[in-house]
Amino acid sequence: MSAEFPQLRPRRLRSTPAMRRLVAQTRLHPAELVLPLFVREGVSEPVPISSMPGVVQHTRDTLRAAAVQAAESGLGGVMLFGVPEVQDAVGSEGTNPDGILQQAIRDVVSEVGDSLVVMSDLCLDEYTDHGHCGVLAADGSVDNDATLARYAEMAVVQADAGVHLVGPSGMMDGQIAVVRRALDEAGHLDTGILAYTAKYASAFYGPFREAVGSSLKGDRKSYQQDPANARESLRELEQDLAEGADMVMVKPAMAYLDVLRQIADASPVPVSAYQVSGEYSMIEAAAANGWIDRERTILETLTSIRRAGAEQILTYWAVEAAAMLR
Ligand code: PBG
Repeated sequence: MSAEFPQLRPRRLRSTPAMRRLVAQTRLHPAELVLPLFVREGVSEPVPISSMPGVVQHTRDTLRAAAVQAAESGLGGVMLFGVPEVQDAVGSEGTNPDGILQQAIRDVVSEVGDSLVVMSDLCLDEYTDHGHCGVLAADGSVDNDATLARYAEMAVVQADAGVHLVGPSGMMDGQIAVVRRALDEAGHLDTGILAYTAKYASAFYGPFREAVGSSLKGDRKSYQQDPANARESLRELEQDLAEGADMVMVKPAMAYLDVLRQIADASPVPVSAYQVSGEYSMIEAAAANGWIDRERTILETLTSIRRAGAEQILTYWAVEAAAMLR
């Protein structure tokens, strides 16, 4: 026998579809997929988002229908984002009990609240005319503690509307503690918090800005994390857990799989990942050009995010992926 004769033959376990299925270590299930949905105030037809082909800003009626479809697809939940008609410096519509997101929460909870977990974005950037996730100090910087007061109010109006999980996504220090306290004081002991724990200042959010009509000039680097840093995510995790996060999230997903793995190894609570708008758009664009196989790429990215440790995945392909998985 020559020295280079293979002693071990891993190819045996890759040889047939049945063999590969038997030994697959990672499986995707529709129940762990969450569909982000946009609802826009004052429109009578859904508005396409040009940078996210296939994704729209819903009317209240089409949002209901989309939520029903999500439930029928066996998804785990939906994450709602409101697009208000009016933006101002402090994001007033975010705390208006009849603001578009609060109306949408009521609609969706009454439609599918028994079969889906209904989640809502808890952040000000959809509502502010300057596009930042918080309110501004006199010098133009984002004022952490003044913003916390706004988040506390937002949490209560969203919980009043019946949401199951609020998703504080603004990366203000202390946001989970403030939201938990506000919810408890308002009697919303059972409303949970999905904390955006490791959230990076990412170019991959580009198409989302169009999706929510955000007019941000500048960037979010003074509050979202630096892509160069992994370790501080563990500190954010510790802090969010201490402040009462029920679930934690890493965002974006694909460029941060190392961070996701570290958080998954350290977290005693469920870990989610958000496959964000830019991740969606770049695959759609490449597929539209015939450069990659769309369906294979979608399933490969979701499998990789799952493999890296996410137990829930927010993805704009949730309904379609659920169909592929059946
Ligand atoms: C903040 C928020 C953002 C996203 C989700 N929540 C934008 C941001 O932080 O800049 C991005 C989601 C995506 O890109 O798909 N409200």
